[in-house]
Parts: sequence; structure tokens; C-alpha cells
Amino acid sequence: MKKLYIQDLKDKLGESVELTAWVHRKRTHGSLLFLVLRDSTGTVQASFKKDQCSEESFNNAGEVALESLVTVKGTVVEDKRAPTGIEIRVSNFNSVSPSEEFPLQEDTGVEVLLDYRHLHLRSVRLTNIMKARQYFTEYLREFFKGKKFWEVWPPIFTVAGVEGGSTLFGLDYYGDKVYLSQSAQLYLEALIMALEKVYTYMPSFRAEKSRTPKHVTEYWHLEQEAAFYDNEDNMEFQENMVSYVCQKMAENHGDLLKELGKNPEDLKKVKPPFYRMTYDEAIEKLREEGADKEWGDDLGAEDEYTLTKGLDKPLFVWRWPKIAKPFYMKLDPKNEEYVLNDDLLAPDGHSEIIGGSQRIHDYNELMQRIEEENMDASTYQWYIDLRKYGTVPHSGFGLGTERFLKWILNIEQIRDVIPFPRTPRRYYP
Ligand code: 4AD
Ligand code: MG
Repeated sequence: MKKLYIQDLKDKLGESVELTAWVHRKRTHGSLLFLVLRDSTGTVQASFKKDQCSEESFNNAGEVALESLVTVKGTVVEDKRAPTGIEIRVSNFNSVSPSEEFPLQEDTGVEVLLDYRHLHLRSVRLTNIMKARQYFTEYLREFFKGKKFWEVWPPIFTVAGVEGGSTLFGLDYYGDKVYLSQSAQLYLEALIMALEKVYTYMPSFRAEKSRTPKHVTEYWHLEQEAAFYDNEDNMEFQENMVSYVCQKMAENHGDLLKELGKNPEDLKKVKPPFYRMTYDEAIEKLREEGADKEWGDDLGAEDEYTLTKGLDKPLFVWRWPKIAKPFYMKLDPKNEEYVLNDDLLAPDGHSEIIGGSQRIHDYNELMQRIEEENMDASTYQWYIDLRKYGTVPHSGFGLGTERFLKWILNIEQIRDVIPFPRTPRRYYP
């Protein structure tokens, strides 16, 4: 079965074609009938004139329900009044697979749209977002390939938390308790001993209680780990990677971005060096702005907004207090109350898109931190082991795909950048 795609119609001006696609919109105008047809490559207007197609075709097209799959035969012509500049003047119409009355309309509310996500995904906006997501993934992989990193595939069933236990999903594994992976980091740290520079792109799971526009319980996590990288190398890598993706998106997908309401010129400004602020400077600035912040507090959504509003590129908040961060981060040798890490915050409160750090590679330092945090060392034995057999300084980071897309596409709700979002209240469809 060979299909003609809507995007190729522009090369067929004056030709007679047969197109099979879905009915996106319908409108009549006296003896004129217009269908806007949709396929994966775009939309096109099909026009029916009573005296230019069979009566049967005209009547059937007039009665067709939105979202039906139909075939039209006709001539491709240029028409400045048509939304895409071309239209098909139809001579023959066939309903291939009729639709029942479509439950979604222009004014359908958000919750109903989510109940019908399996149908809502056909909307032009969500289709464009899914395309942008694919391009984004492509450019990330391209970047890693250029830097000679190996892609690796860590497990999703795991024995312990990485980012603390509070957001783990537990499940029964033949009578044992295991957890869905929160982060592949610890496994990447094992793999660098073989491959030195690795990354993975896979789901992470967080039993977040927060219902916010930037949290989902299942998200696609891009994680990098590199031997012989210190925290500075790590931050440089992050800004180069983020910039690479933004430049490529702006260069190659300007029209798509514009359709989503994002100005590609804004992405062109995302070039290194990014803004930088230590944690202490951030707290000071927040206090100046009237926030009630204690040293050691995490940053909330409002704080992130205060720090990033109006910025044209992301902001690193780096060198955090160790009490605010997980056990594996390398202590700053200049002052061991701090760790060598960074959170990368996207402009205008689009929130933390990356968390990264240098890792503790020394056995004794790691054991001390595990003890300080009252963690069960036996669960982490294999991870601790790595420090006994030719350990190496290393760093890494994790980027939340949905957070990143939310920012670069300027989307309000994180759930709109993933096809079937999972949130505390929603795992259907
Ligand atoms: O900051 P996080 O928790 O860091 C880690 O998991 C590290 N172990 C990563 C590493 O160094 N390999 O998560 C990393 C990123 C966050 O910056 C955020 O972008 C995203 O993952 N993220 C979420 N995205 C959507 N929904 C959630 N509930 C998220 N939690 C984290
Ligand atoms: Mg974080």
C-alpha cells in the first residue's frame, strides 16, 4: 500500500492525485464545501463545487463526520486563500472508514482532553510537539556521538534509590522488594570503568506527590557519566549540549517552532557561557527579593522563577550545601560543607532541567557520607565496590526531557510534551 503524503502535494501542482487522510475540519459555503484533511505531514484544504464533482460525492462529503478516514481524487491547484496556499479541487470522494461523532471539540475542558488522550493526540498542536520531541532526541544523540560517548542500557528494576527513598515506586519481584529506577546514575558509574564516557536515555520514575506543571511520575531521563571529568568539565559539557540542541532546533525547525508559538530567534541566543551563580549567591539574591530562605533550603518553584525571570539563557546554580543534596556528590575540598555540583535552571521559571555533580570516587569519603546519611551500606555494596578496583575521578548529570521541551517550546504544562502523561492522579489511558 503506497500513500501520497500531504507534504508532497506542493510538487504536484496541476496534477491529478488521490489522497487518503482524516477529516480535520469541515465547512460549507452555499454550493461550496471545504474539508481540511490531515495526515502525519500536515493539513490541506479539499474543495468541492457542486457542479464539478458527482452529486453523490458532494452529498457524502457533506455528511462525513470529523475524523473519518476518506479518499479524495482531484487536481492540486495553487490557491492563495487556502490556509497552506494549495488546495485539492475534488472530483470524487470516498469515505474509507467513517468516524462516530468525535467526543472532542474546540472548547472541550482539560480533564476530558486527558481522559481522551488517545484521541487528543491527533490535534495539530500535540502532533507538532511530538515531532519536536523526536528532533530533540535526534540532536542529543548526535551531540553525544560527536563527543564519542557510548550509549548504554541500564536496568529499570533496581535495588535501591539514588536520589533518596521518598520518591521510589516499589514492587514485588518474586517475593522480594525492588524499585522502578529513579535514575540510572549508579549503573552508569559502573559502566564508565569499561567505556569511560557513557550516556543513556530511558524512563525514570518518581513517586512525586507534587501536582505541579513540571512534575510527572514517569519521565524520559537523559543521563551522562564521564571518567576524568571534574565538575567544571561537567558544567561545560552541559552548556554545550543544551546550546547544540537549541541551535539545531532553531536552524532546522523554525516553522514548527513558530507554529507552536515559539520564536526560533530566542533559541539562537542560547549560547555558552550560561549564567552562573553559587548557591550562596542565589540565597542572598532571594533574600534581597524578600524570600524567606534558610541556608540549606532547596529552591522552590517561586525561587526558581525569581532567579530566572527574563533570562535569555539558562542559569547554573552551583556549589550547593551537602545537606541539601544526595550522598554521592563530591565534597568541595575547600569547604566540606559544600558539594561540587550544579542545577541548571531554565529561564522564566521553566525550572530545573539538569542536575549534575562530580561524584565521590574515594572509598573512605563515600563510606563516611553513607554513614552520615544513615543509609544501609549493604544495599549499595556493589556501588561501593567500584571504589576498590581502580577508582577514577568522574562526573555526570541527568536531564529531564520533558522539562527541557517544556522550556524550549514554551509549553505551560509538562504533561503536554509526553504522549501519555503519568501523574499522581492519572495512569489512564
Ligand atoms: O535532579 P535529579 O533528581 O538528579 C538525578 O536523578 C541524578 N541522579 C542525575 C544524574 O546525575 N545522573 O533529576 C535529574 C533531572 C531534573 O533536573 C529534572 O529535569 C528531571 O530529572 N526530573 C523530572 N522531570 C519530570 N518530572 C519529575 N518528577 C522529575 N524529577 C526530576
Ligand atoms: Mg535535582
